[in-house]
Amino acid sequence: MCGIVGYIGEKPVRNLLITGLQRLEYRGYDSAGLAIVDDEVLRVRKQKGKVSELASTFQEASLPGTLGIGHTRWATHGFPNDTNAHPHTNATEDFALVHNGIIENYGAIRKRLQEKGYYFRTETDTEALVHLIDSVRKETALPLPEAVRQSLTQVVGTYGIAVVSSRDPDLLIAARMGSPLILGVGEGEYFIASDAAPLVEHTRQVVYLNDGELVVIRRNGYEVRTIDNERLEKTVHELEWDLGQIEKGGFEHFMLKEIMEQAEALENCMRGRVRSEENQIVLGGLIDVMDRLQAARRIILAACGTSWHSALVGEYLIEQYARIPVEVEYASEFRYRNPIIDDNDVVIVISQSGETADTLAAVREAKRKGALVLGICNVVGSTIARETDAGVYLHAGPEIGVASTKAFTCQVAVLTMIALKLAQGRTLSDAEMTQALHALSMIPDKVRQVLALDREFEQMASVYRYASNFLYLGRGYNFPVALEGALKLKEISYIHAEGYPAAEMKHGPIALIDRFMPVVFIATKDRTYDKVVSNIEEVVARKGSVIAITDEGNGELDRLCEYVIRVPATEEFLSPLLTAIPLQLLSYHIAVMRGCDVDQPRNLAKSVTVE
Ligand code: G6P
Repeated sequence: MCGIVGYIGEKPVRNLLITGLQRLEYRGYDSAGLAIVDDEVLRVRKQKGKVSELASTFQEASLPGTLGIGHTRWATHGFPNDTNAHPHTNATEDFALVHNGIIENYGAIRKRLQEKGYYFRTETDTEALVHLIDSVRKETALPLPEAVRQSLTQVVGTYGIAVVSSRDPDLLIAARMGSPLILGVGEGEYFIASDAAPLVEHTRQVVYLNDGELVVIRRNGYEVRTIDNERLEKTVHELEWDLGQIEKGGFEHFMLKEIMEQAEALENCMRGRVRSEENQIVLGGLIDVMDRLQAARRIILAACGTSWHSALVGEYLIEQYARIPVEVEYASEFRYRNPIIDDNDVVIVISQSGETADTLAAVREAKRKGALVLGICNVVGSTIARETDAGVYLHAGPEIGVASTKAFTCQVAVLTMIALKLAQGRTLSDAEMTQALHALSMIPDKVRQVLALDREFEQMASVYRYASNFLYLGRGYNFPVALEGALKLKEISYIHAEGYPAAEMKHGPIALIDRFMPVVFIATKDRTYDKVVSNIEEVVARKGSVIAITDEGNGELDRLCEYVIRVPATEEFLSPLLTAIPLQLLSYHIAVMRGCDVDQPRNLAKSVTVE
């Protein structure tokens, strides 16, 4: 969702902001803009479309200056067009503001300001904040940072903002409430960004702003205060990312790179945690809360999107192995339905970005009700990682492609480790633990074997690229994989796809089956294999075209199916770590063949920081 980047220092800022915005493109956006202060002149350039178009329309010569802010907008209020694009300026055009989030009381503010004579040029909620700051500044004659702070006390909603002014070429202001912002600390220069991606090539020293904090930055230092004007001392953290991780490294798309990285990502995720020699799992982040987790009466898993699918796998894993009841919740529903929770419950939220607004709200709701709240996040230092009581990082490395891939498999790996950890000495004997750990440690190599089949998936994609609908069916551990396979396809290829538990097919989806309906079955040789084969027969009898994913060496399905993909055999509970991969690659190739923008699919955002 919207991306913010800002800079104050000695370097020419235009190219720095353009590159920064390009690093934020993956978050999802529809328009882009810059405001640069040069010699007490404010130069604002913004337009609908890609950052590269903005860069070619506005060349460097027209935008000198060493102080500026940039923005990629993901439209919430008002169409994606040049006028609604950020930055927005006050009427006298001496300051400019970029904003991520939603000003919920913008209607009331707008009305009040219109009555005072303010004219609104855009349909955005953001413009209300700009004119509010202007009016506070005029009425109080306060300096701009103070006018910004006082204005923010009147705002209801969420924001990450950055402000520059032509009246003060040594001033960059930023503030946050609900939308992420990081301060990058360099030598005589400072950066502001929505996430670490634009910062890594400049500095590794960062300060994470919390909700309700405002930072006033000058070339010789910065000062953080709360919106209520309390001075704060902030800790400087070291970034873990490096530049290579956020570049494509020879791959055509980030998504392909991230799919292909999965074996290494899983190795990193399990390193030091799966300890075969000691026959145990060690999850450092959970050591202090393990007793409470072991004693939980119920575990609630809350997440959105792909992370919600990994939560469903987690439900199967934890119930089967730890024998603790699990509920899986969409974070967006959980937060508003006044859930019944108490201090016997443990809520585990799952979020790749650690910034998803609904998931963050679920964290706060669960904490308010007294539950122990744990996080499974990928982005180190993200808001959810900081606000949860304890947690486990994925260590999957940055995920840039909007469609989540390696984060999904690593989330499943973390949930597997949690389930096994809880099961040890409870339902799993030492010998069973040895067997489980052995199978788990074999997974990265098996993932490599599946990835090596990529040519097969590409060939299949060329056959199915024109389909208008797809059905994905699986059972048990592979039911969530069916949902995830369908989600991957619709996200990036815009083909309508549905996932179902295979046995539910006869309660509806079977009505859709004809020769134009490809059906993907995950039919690994587990407890329900025979039942799934019967479902395949039912589809074939109605002329549906079946793609099956099954185990290596299984030739039984060849007579029924158009395509059979064989993945290495593993324990049933580890199956999603392998079966998800062909579905990711099938979606990827279909999307590429249909000419879709794989890394930045239309309308989607990587980090959904608004409700
Ligand atoms: C967006 C992304 C999805 C992601 C979901 C949850 O919709 O496009 O890929 O699964 O948000 O994100 P999170 O960062 O909380 O896992």
